[in-house]
Amino acid sequence: MGMIIQEALFLLSCIYILLRSYSAVEAAVGVCYGRVGTNLPPPSEAINLIKSIGVSRIRLFNPDPEALQPFAGTGIELLVGVPNEILPTLANSPVTISMEWLQTNIFAHVSPNQVKYLAVGNEIFLKDPFYSPYIVPAISNLYQAIQTLGLATSIKLSSSHASTILSNSYPPSSGVFNSTIRPFLLPFLQFLRDTSSPLMVNVYPFFAYINNPQYVSLDHALFRSSYVEYDQNLAYDNMFDASIDAFVYAMEKEGFEGIPVMVTETGWPTAGIDGASIDNALSYNGNVVRRALNNVGTPKRPGVGLDVFLFDLFDENGKSGEEFERHFGIFGDNGIKAYDIRFN
Ligand SMILES: *[C@@H]1O[C@H](CO)[C@@H](O)[C@H](O)[C@H]1NC(C)=O
Repeated sequence: MGMIIQEALFLLSCIYILLRSYSAVEAAVGVCYGRVGTNLPPPSEAINLIKSIGVSRIRLFNPDPEALQPFAGTGIELLVGVPNEILPTLANSPVTISMEWLQTNIFAHVSPNQVKYLAVGNEIFLKDPFYSPYIVPAISNLYQAIQTLGLATSIKLSSSHASTILSNSYPPSSGVFNSTIRPFLLPFLQFLRDTSSPLMVNVYPFFAYINNPQYVSLDHALFRSSYVEYDQNLAYDNMFDASIDAFVYAMEKEGFEGIPVMVTETGWPTAGIDGASIDNALSYNGNVVRRALNNVGTPKRPGVGLDVFLFDLFDENGKSGEEFERHFGIFGDNGIKAYDIRFN
């Protein structure tokens, strides 16, 4: 009898250790540090604000030395953007040029240990299509450079894409890529598979809501709906999950199963249009953070935490376009906190 109890206890402790090791791979939540404005505090002050709310990951859209350098030694992990404009040069030059570019523009300022991701180009497909042919050749050269530097296991390379590269995303199982990008998309997905890298996507249920307020429920967009929509027996109670899974289905249709998705931008503004408010921004962003930290995953990939970057650290007064574009900040003008959100 005692033996059986002992064995049962042993088994239970094994299960406990196993579960703990799974939950240890907790998804990380970061924040985008956009710098298009004259109202922003200097980077050293920004870093104090970042630390004050417990953020341990930051996305820099460009490797500006004056923004990058102050992160050195802070322990804050970085996703650094490789600007669209440099892709043709990296694509058309030998790997040594990619190596030099990385050394000069990134590793001269921060230790490679702090860099977790490179986003090679931002929203190129359909939005900046001149650069589409250069994504894969550039990312391949950068990957070889990273490999040569012995960093291929610690730094993941991908490219960020807008949700508009899906020509259909609702319901999620009907997710499909716009066929015009296939010649450049398929080799890109192949690169992600070969290097075990994630698809990076920028998703904004906010835009779905403001573009179709008569069809899209605000509560569904803000994670506070009790209403559930079913798609192939999977239950969706929010639009964020549906947007992510649409990408998963779209990749499967192209023959690419199992590629992780990460969110390189998502957010909700505090002002500037109906539906934008401090309460709504807190509700949306707060739920995104909580769900990532708890590895909630999505209906199609339950329990698989997604790395997420919230947009944006500051209200950026230099952003063009509609008024709300200048109100995505967790911190408003002059570093005043817009609402209370914590990341740990
Ligand atoms: C696909 O992209 C092209 C080029 O931007 C656009 O003209 C077309 O409307 C898109 N197709 C769909 C179905 O969204």
